[in-house]
Amino acid sequence: MKNLLNLKIESIGTNGEGIAKNGADTCFVPFCLPGEQITAKPTYTKGKIVNAQLVKVTKSVNGRTKPKCKVFGNCGGCQLQHMAYDMQLDFKRNLVKNNLKKLGGVEVDVLPTEPSAKTYGYRNKVQMPFGKKDGKTVMGFYKPSSHEMVVTDSCVLQEDWADKLCNLAKQFADDNNLSVYNEKTKQGLLRHLVARYVDGQLLATIVINGDKLDGWQAFAHTLAQNFDHFGLFINVNKKHTNVILGDKTIWLAGIKHIDGECCGVRFNLQPNSFFQVNDDIRDKIYNQAISLVDTNDCDIIVDAFSGIGIMSGVLAKTGLPTFGIEIVPQAVEDADKLKQINNLDNLTNICGDVNIQLKKLCDKYQKVALVVDPPRKGLDKQTKDTILQAKPKSVVYVSCNSATLARDIKDLSQLYDVTYCKPYDMFPMTNNVETLVKLARKV
Ligand SMILES: C[S@@+](CC[C@H](N)C(=O)[O-])C[C@H]1O[C@@H](n2cnc3c(N)ncnc32)[C@H](O)[C@@H]1O
Repeated sequence: MKNLLNLKIESIGTNGEGIAKNGADTCFVPFCLPGEQITAKPTYTKGKIVNAQLVKVTKSVNGRTKPKCKVFGNCGGCQLQHMAYDMQLDFKRNLVKNNLKKLGGVEVDVLPTEPSAKTYGYRNKVQMPFGKKDGKTVMGFYKPSSHEMVVTDSCVLQEDWADKLCNLAKQFADDNNLSVYNEKTKQGLLRHLVARYVDGQLLATIVINGDKLDGWQAFAHTLAQNFDHFGLFINVNKKHTNVILGDKTIWLAGIKHIDGECCGVRFNLQPNSFFQVNDDIRDKIYNQAISLVDTNDCDIIVDAFSGIGIMSGVLAKTGLPTFGIEIVPQAVEDADKLKQINNLDNLTNICGDVNIQLKKLCDKYQKVALVVDPPRKGLDKQTKDTILQAKPKSVVYVSCNSATLARDIKDLSQLYDVTYCKPYDMFPMTNNVETLVKLARKV
């Protein structure tokens, strides 16, 4: 094969890929470990940057691990199955440390990454597109940065319930001759299967490019035979975009929500509400985040980006007036149910935008104890301006993107120091990491 490169991997990049020098060029090769000697095939070159595909590991190092998944390397879901788990934890700790330094301008003592109890089979959520192959319904994941489906019958990040559900859904589609949505022609019915399985309860949503799912009663019957507690929904998405869920979700059969318990509060979870994907790490990060909140000398506690309200529910148990702010109405319905079933009269769930609602609360109350848990894009300028004006004594920040976390820390650094920083491995085998940070006011 022509143009092959023989490289020695020197370090790991932010996406978990190997980095090597080839003369003046810097080469990025996924699925390699530092110290390994490899052969790679260039796939893209721009200036002195070369992206290459691993062809062969000619000399390996300790830590190379056999991936569990047959489509690892093809499917875009996992980046680190070839890496021993303790190396993954170190990689994530260094990633957070480097992002905070390079993007945040702060040198922070980052605690070791909290490991996940399960390194495979940890996800309580499945989200897979439907496809067709040789006339049969298939499911899979998209290749990195593409819309080309890698077909698979099984994902090792989920437990058996997910494989079973996907197989039943494919069979149902074939038995009923249901068409599959085609992104190019924009025709076809079935788009995605989205499901959650928590505490033995399944919520399955079939996302369709249409208004009805003919024959759903048969699918409900099959689910009832295979799962003790299930709820079946359709979600209508006729928009031709990448967004998976449309605005309308319709309950068809079974339970309407999951009824669970976490950190001592009972919760309610509907299909469209956000929920952390790894139950073990979720509990660990919530417990630690809550313990970091300064409730000693405050008028109110605010949980901004509160989802279904577990953290605000636990914080409300202090007896202090507690506010959750969440933009998705269904999640706020869940949070109101949580308030009711846990008898938390001092908890107020606000349905609205943190950028607006946090300022209103800070204008009204002087001493605010604040937790923020934003989506990947981090905090907007408006929210950071509110924090800088209101000057809460501390801010506990739960982040799922250490790059935007670092940017936000930088923007708040005139008033705040990082006094606690610990990564949590919410997403083993992938290059994603959850980070818990406490920011303490300087004066
Ligand atoms: C990372 S999740 C965290 C949710 C919750 N803290 C938890 O642990 O389950 C972020 C949440 O913020 C909500 N959200 C996103 N943008 C928002 C905004 N501008 N204002 C209020 N909530 C928002 C999302 O709907 C989602 O529930």
